[in-house]
Amino acid sequence: MIRKCLFPVAGYGTRFLPATKSMPKEMLPIVNKPLVQYGVEEAIGAGMKNCAMVTGRGKRAISDHFDISYELEHQISGSSKEMYLESIRGVLNEGIFTQVRQREMKGLGHAILTGEALIGDEAFGVLLSDDLCLNDGPGVLSQMTELYEEHQCSIVAIQEVPMDEVHKYGVISGEDLGSGLYKVDDMVEKPSAEDAPSNLAIIGRYILTPDIFDILRSTEPGSGGEVQITDALQTQARQGRVLAYKFKGLRFDCGTVPGFVEATNYVYENVYTNNG
Ligand code: UTP
Repeated sequence: MIRKCLFPVAGYGTRFLPATKSMPKEMLPIVNKPLVQYGVEEAIGAGMKNCAMVTGRGKRAISDHFDISYELEHQISGSSKEMYLESIRGVLNEGIFTQVRQREMKGLGHAILTGEALIGDEAFGVLLSDDLCLNDGPGVLSQMTELYEEHQCSIVAIQEVPMDEVHKYGVISGEDLGSGLYKVDDMVEKPSAEDAPSNLAIIGRYILTPDIFDILRSTEPGSGGEVQITDALQTQARQGRVLAYKFKGLRFDCGTVPGFVEATNYVYENVYTNNG
């Protein structure tokens, strides 16, 4: 049973400036719910009730979001507006929220290593909330925890992307085991189309075994001068201990303006309007 999910939310979100100058990217709403709340709901749905946030300066709004607002509760309680607090109340009732600060933005791998203090010696999920994943059945992390129960190794979620977009992602190659599962033998961070081993791109959902922390500690900064989680996973992959999983569902890259707009339109038309 995986109990904890790490949320690296320390990044600057430069692609959304000036909106993200004093507001965390993860608090940008898709219709009426912040990106990070979609992520937390997915993690809790997968049984990961311990939500461990790796935050940074200027991210206080995230901590406040996952806490009670007494004034608001007091004002709204008993009124017709109370229904608007329902989803966040549900999350607060179920989740446990912890946080640690990443003082310097040295990359996703470094952010994950910073989260070690909150995770300890157990397998855990990682969710990048700017990848919004939606589907009718079990969420992506739920699909992955089921696989973890069976295989007990690190698992990355993947998606096929056009070859001219592989340079934005970590890309894997591996043996096709059927049912969307691959045994990873190679991983490259942000390869050119010529160097990419496939078009199977890693998206923002991982299950990691805790030995990843020791590997990260000795991983040199790679692409972009940042400590890359892909480089650390490569070490596990060489030992045959990483699976990649083509998840069921839709994914929107809300770290970019076009992906964010696409997600907003989709949620408005298919989720928000249907739920009243
Ligand atoms: P991104 O590559 O999207 O970076 O990070 P970013 O800073 O958020 O956005 P841009 O590129 O400036 O627009 C992917 C995820 O990893 C987290 C980010 O918060 C985001 O969720 N991250 C990245 C950290 O927590 N720490 C880091 O040092 C780097």
